[in-house]
Amino acid sequence: MAERLDTARIPRHVGIIMDGNGRWANARGFERTVGHAAGEQSIFDTIDDCIEFGVEWLTVYAFSTENWNRSAEEVDFLMAFNESLLVRHRDAVAEKGVRLHFVGLSNDPRVPTNVVERMAESERLSADNTRMHVVFAFNYGGRAEIADAARTIAEEVAAGTLDPATVDGATIADRLYLPEMPDPELIIRTSGEQRLSNFLLWQSAYSELVFTPVLWPDFDRRALIDCLVEYQGRHRRFGGVEPASADDGSDQ
Ligand code: IPE
Ligand code: IPE
Ligand code: MG
Repeated sequence: MAERLDTARIPRHVGIIMDGNGRWANARGFERTVGHAAGEQSIFDTIDDCIEFGVEWLTVYAFSTENWNRSAEEVDFLMAFNESLLVRHRDAVAEKGVRLHFVGLSNDPRVPTNVVERMAESERLSADNTRMHVVFAFNYGGRAEIADAARTIAEEVAAGTLDPATVDGATIADRLYLPEMPDPELIIRTSGEQRLSNFLLWQSAYSELVFTPVLWPDFDRRALIDCLVEYQGRHRRFGGVEPASADDGSDQ
């Protein structure tokens, strides 16, 4: 199955908006939270597949700054679920050489202390790993990330350590949550929705977007390969023009 992939064109960074858990559960007559639990396997299978394919960075959108708008029951479930998921998987993931990172508003009083502690511990215990980076975007919003960077820049200007005339894109990129993270070449969203929902707004400027109807709990190796193959068929131009093909007879 993986032979469908061009090994020379594996994206270095893949972002995934893991969507459709609630619909997966409702279609089976279950509570929405059953869908979140059913999506757990997809996360860790995807990590394994990405290691195998040579993806260096994988960012998964686990909880957005807007997800607080859900019922208290669902929010409480997601907090406890994400903590337990870390406790149950982080050692095995770290043993595979994965370095874990968390991006989002971690000093938000609405996030339970045990969740914050578990995230910090997971980062610490995997800090020396270099095989692959897995980033959990948790209580994450792209606008909040850019606003936080703008605040840092304003503080540096006020303190006299930054000249406002030198502020450019790199100044902002250096002050995002994880400055060493490369921009994602590919962002996948499951469940058929075609929007970013505040995911990696700065970093997605030139990302290829691939939308699949597959609901997150059904997302498997085949679905991932389908998305990668679609990405590999795209022509990335970055504002330039299509390079002339050697055999198309055109003089472009
Ligand atoms: C994605 O699935 C998981 C989170 C946002 C935490 P949803 O819970 O959004 O599922 P749908 O979109 O309602 O089906
Ligand atoms: C985006 O999904 C957030 C996550 C996957 C964590 P949502 O289901 O919250 O997004 P909307 O509400 O459909 O835009
Ligand atoms: Mg959704």
